[in-house]
Amino acid sequence: MQIIDRQKVNKQIKELKKKYGDDRSALMPILQDLQEIYEYLPDVVMQETAHSLGIHPVEVEGVASFYSFLRTKEKQGKYVIRLCRTISCDLAGKSNVARQLENEMGIKFGETTKDGKFTLEYTNCLGMCDRGPALMINDRLFAKVDPEKASQIIADCRRDFLKSDFPKVVPSDVKKAGPILDHGLKPAEAIKKALSMSRSEIINTIRESDLKGRGGAGFPTAVKWQLAGAAKGENKYVVCNADEGEPGTFKDRMLLYEHTDFLLDGMTIGAYAIGASKGFIYLRGEYLYMKKYLEEALENRRSEHLLGKNILGKDGFHFDIRIRMGAGAYVCGEETALIESLEGYRGEPRNRPPFPVDTGFQGNPTIVNNVETFIDSALIIVKGYEWFNIHGTEKSKGMKIFSISGDCERPGIYEFPFGIKVSELLKEVGGEDAKAVQIGGASGHCISRKDFTRTIAFEDIGSGGSIIVFGPDTDMLQVAKNFLEFFVEESCGQCTPCRDGNPKLLEGIEMLENGRCSVTYLNELKKLGETIQNASKCGLGQSSPNAFLSIVDNFKPEILGPAAAGKLTKEERYARKR
Ligand code: FES
Repeated sequence: MQIIDRQKVNKQIKELKKKYGDDRSALMPILQDLQEIYEYLPDVVMQETAHSLGIHPVEVEGVASFYSFLRTKEKQGKYVIRLCRTISCDLAGKSNVARQLENEMGIKFGETTKDGKFTLEYTNCLGMCDRGPALMINDRLFAKVDPEKASQIIADCRRDFLKSDFPKVVPSDVKKAGPILDHGLKPAEAIKKALSMSRSEIINTIRESDLKGRGGAGFPTAVKWQLAGAAKGENKYVVCNADEGEPGTFKDRMLLYEHTDFLLDGMTIGAYAIGASKGFIYLRGEYLYMKKYLEEALENRRSEHLLGKNILGKDGFHFDIRIRMGAGAYVCGEETALIESLEGYRGEPRNRPPFPVDTGFQGNPTIVNNVETFIDSALIIVKGYEWFNIHGTEKSKGMKIFSISGDCERPGIYEFPFGIKVSELLKEVGGEDAKAVQIGGASGHCISRKDFTRTIAFEDIGSGGSIIVFGPDTDMLQVAKNFLEFFVEESCGQCTPCRDGNPKLLEGIEMLENGRCSVTYLNELKKLGETIQNASKCGLGQSSPNAFLSIVDNFKPEILGPAAAGKLTKEERYARKR
């Protein structure tokens, strides 16, 4: 057993407080750094952190136990292997990799080898959906893993000679670029232009562009900025939601790396427009490998006077950005849960109103926009709103970046205008024989061929950018099951409909698998799904039954078919053509 020296822990916490501050919002980064040192969070470490920040130890334990990347219970293996269990990796052959990993190490998922070398776990989407099956070992990512590669990786770990698939950063796979990705601007061009404009001119330009939030909800960006700008508050904050955890989404991984300056330009313009002096990038825990790169980018901008005091000589305009790491909680993609997490609490969504534009980070006016929205804002300021809104539809202006994965010939990142038909998109990606398409990730809708003439737009089928293609042989019951397992795991547990309703739906799917679910009961489950949609507290719960309900609606004969009569074995269900 590891003996922990309290005095040493205290010294370490003192140093970390210098780096992160001494209020509650420093809790998460302090715990993350201490975990780096001790490999988990022993009681002593949590107690000393609590005393040092003036909070109760139970509070600290409550926070640490909420996030899947924080470990309170026991020291894990030297190599923690997290295999993505989410749908795109599942379609790509995750089960075969899982079996091989178990065979290689002689343990099951959730276990640690006796020699303390390996821990094997499942995780949800790692943002590598276009190159699955993906897995993560400590903070290193591995793509396109097959059983043979899994075996090689384990052998490398045994020799303590683990080579990363991506020593620096995961290269992007842009298959189609348009006016957004091929913008041709120079870094800081947008800030220079913005600083020559008044705050209201900036907000008016964004309003005229009709830019709607690219995270999926489609709230008008200008309204958010206008409200935060008008709200009273000594400190205002700009937060970039870089927590893309929606299964099937990986475009931010590319945007963060290849369009970093334009993201930072967009955040800085947002700060100028609302009068903010501090900003955060809330980066998903799975993108830890990108933290150093982003920190260097921030440092460069400080030296070029693009961050800090009197930016580019503009008297009184001070703004700086810090990076805060998420820790494996999908719900933190919801803006109020994200703010709770930034403040050092469990990522549990808040009741609204009040809205973050009034009462956001530490009670101050805060705008939370996603990576793509900030980049679009920067480009609009330089190129003008007409450049932006000539694309798209009447109600969904502009271009959209999509992450496309699943059963198609050319998975990757695509830029299309809003209003593109699903059939056109499938042609571009080589997925014309698709049986179904999941639009908007796990929280989106699954449509069948009869709806392929529909368009992707806020007024038709909205999407934050995740598109998963299901080929003709896909077992739709397994798709619904995979999504529900995801929500059962990711529900924050605050509200009853989401916490207790989704396991009930999952139970229903298991009954269907075993031929024990009548049509009447399936209809009852549909009603339960609708109740979860209506009664859940936040967007996660409200959208959690979407995939299940749309699969039941569109594929009812299939899911009630041989499985309901108990004619398929589990192995047969999983036997796919890949
Ligand atoms: Fe596995 Fe996204 S990385 S589904």
